[in-house]
Amino acid sequence: MEKIIIDCDPGVDDAIAILLAIANPNLKLMGVTTVAGNIGIDKTFTNAMKVIALSGRIDIPVFKGAYRPIMFPTGSITNVHGENGLCGMELPEPTQVDSGFHAVDFIIKTVMDNPGDITICAIGPLTNIALAMIKEPTLANKVKDIVLMGGAAFCSGNITSHAEFNFYVDPHAAHIVFDTARHVTMLGLDVTEKVDIRVGLCERLDTGNHIARTTSKMSRAYSINDPFLHDPCAIAYVANPSLFSSIEGNIEIDYLSKEKYGHCFVRTKSTSTKEAPLPSTRDCLYKVTIVLNVDSKALLDLIASSIASL
Ligand code: BDR
Ligand code: CA
Repeated sequence: MEKIIIDCDPGVDDAIAILLAIANPNLKLMGVTTVAGNIGIDKTFTNAMKVIALSGRIDIPVFKGAYRPIMFPTGSITNVHGENGLCGMELPEPTQVDSGFHAVDFIIKTVMDNPGDITICAIGPLTNIALAMIKEPTLANKVKDIVLMGGAAFCSGNITSHAEFNFYVDPHAAHIVFDTARHVTMLGLDVTEKVDIRVGLCERLDTGNHIARTTSKMSRAYSINDPFLHDPCAIAYVANPSLFSSIEGNIEIDYLSKEKYGHCFVRTKSTSTKEAPLPSTRDCLYKVTIVLNVDSKALLDLIASSIASL
């Protein structure tokens, strides 16, 4: 069983990712940490606790993290997830309370207490993960893997033509994570835009229990603005990597230019498809697994059946 932490900014697809992790028998969710992204930190924190309340698993702790990106506060740059971050869906009020323990400290403590065993699934801007890596220099060697949803390796962005939302919101954090990590697994828009809610997911969830029906309503509302299940891909990858295919490479983040701010540049052994913005000293390491394809039918089956089993 894989022990994971989910660092997230719920967000409807984050909410579905959390439910998938709770339902999946291959995963043990150690805790959920929250970051500002789709909406502000107070709402992402509350929404994460609401999703946990919906699942009935209030033993899973939730922690509040960074309230802004490292360099530039971006404010509300998208309304994809609506005012409340859950596309207007009212979930049960949380019964958990704020422990006051910071998300960054939870990440560090959990990884240090379980060396080599914890996979961090980062499905929001990477602020908390970057701060944890800066605060604890040995974290990079103690974490099993960092599996993240972010970037667009060989396709267009979704917030600008060059950048994907999570990398665009905090490109400095993304740079720190790729620069510091021993290994990263990146699931960008190349793969996540192959997982389309409109291919029958809601119809399947409609026939399930109240958690499934709530997820269906939320998904329908979200799919009007964004039909793709980005964040669940990262969770499904850890639970069932054989559904996916990938290449090995390096990633550099553009955190300097106006035109390509938040863009990720890919280097692989055989190709350097896009010119990197900065000289790289790490060309030979190829420490990023760049996931590019998925059996999307099998993944949608997995999501629908997992959530219906809660
Ligand atoms: C990412 O941005 C957010 O809107 C989603 O939750 C996902 O993490 C997709 O670009
Ligand atoms: Ca997210």
